[in-house]
Amino acid sequence: MGDQEQVNILMVDDQPGKLLTYEAILNELGENLIKARSGKEALDHLLRTDIAVVLMDVSMPELDGFELADMIRQHPRFQKIAIIFISAVHLTDLDRLNAYQRGAVDYISVPVVPELLRAKVRVFADLHRKTHQLEMLNRDLRTLSARLLATQDEERRRIARDLHDSIGPLIAALSMNNGMLAQQTKKLGAEVAEVLQQNNQLVEQLSKQTRTISHLLHPPLLDEIGLLPAIKMFAEGFAERSSVKVDVELSPEIGRLPPNVEISVFRVVQECLTNVYRHSGSKTAYIKIAPAQEKLLTVQVCDEGKGMPRTNGAAASPGSNHGVGLSGMRERLRELGGTLEIKSSDKGTTVIAAVPVNKPMVKSV
Ligand SMILES: Nc1ncnc2c1ncn2[C@@H]1O[C@H](COP(=O)(O)OP(=O)(O)O)[C@@H](O)[C@H]1O
Ligand SMILES: [Mg+2]
Repeated sequence: MGDQEQVNILMVDDQPGKLLTYEAILNELGENLIKARSGKEALDHLLRTDIAVVLMDVSMPELDGFELADMIRQHPRFQKIAIIFISAVHLTDLDRLNAYQRGAVDYISVPVVPELLRAKVRVFADLHRKTHQLEMLNRDLRTLSARLLATQDEERRRIARDLHDSIGPLIAALSMNNGMLAQQTKKLGAEVAEVLQQNNQLVEQLSKQTRTISHLLHPPLLDEIGLLPAIKMFAEGFAERSSVKVDVELSPEIGRLPPNVEISVFRVVQECLTNVYRHSGSKTAYIKIAPAQEKLLTVQVCDEGKGMPRTNGAAASPGSNHGVGLSGMRERLRELGGTLEIKSSDKGTTVIAAVPVNKPMVKSV
């Protein structure tokens, strides 16, 4: 078996002799074999252990194999368990159908052919192992992307602050020096005065661009005054730069939210507006942030653009876009326990984020 992770195989039969036979057959798989002599004992194991495959006798006193399978399938946690029925009695097609309807994944009749039983169990054991590995990898990936987003936010906040604190004062000093020189224009002569004038303009541009970059990296108002003013300010700046007319409707009762929620909502709006500008062709955008129900708020960004690209004539499903923007938004919302919905047609696109918040919200009327 090497260093492969072992999976648990549960063998259920009321006859100890048969259990020993199955054990002898399956031993060489190197998995962990568990024996149960009744349906009840089997259920006990299922509740306590993560079982990959159940090998089950159909006819047992008290709880028979079919009844047990029913009980197993009713439990959401057990729906994916592979069940292999073994029956000594010849079974009719109806019996087989019965077994499959109970979610049996396979069916073996007695006398059991050892190689066949081993091969079947091996397939399901491997499947379980791979599914488990995939789930773990998925979980790791989610943790990683959440951490990546948080680090990115932190980094942007730091760079924005550095830009503001270190380059800002230098620009101010430069501007003051220029001002002093400008008072001496008579001594400088026309040519130098002209260069000085150009320098002044450059300094002004530098100042403006540094501020824009810093604000885009991290909105200064977000930490101090909160989400809604920051969104309003960002939307105004965006409208000015892009010539897209932006309408904003923000419910004031939302107030302040935890920093991670504020930054995530802000980033969602920022990414949506960037998408409107880059992809939609729309001349308008509409942002609405409002309580949807108690402890839930919705963030909507709509445009009247051409909609998302269609594949094979059908509208591309929102989940199938591979841009970093949309998947980043989805990831942020998943982290907050929220959802992201995208509606798109040739009349425009609407992105709706539902964000759970940890304080009661009065429903807006
Ligand atoms: N408002 C929109 N209107 C039209 N298409 C959009 C809009 N938003 C996103 N898209 C489409 O979805 C794709 C994925 O978007 P996104 O994940 O933000 O990645 P990126 O913006 O880097 O391309 C875009 O390339 C674009 O084709
Ligand atoms: Mg984008």
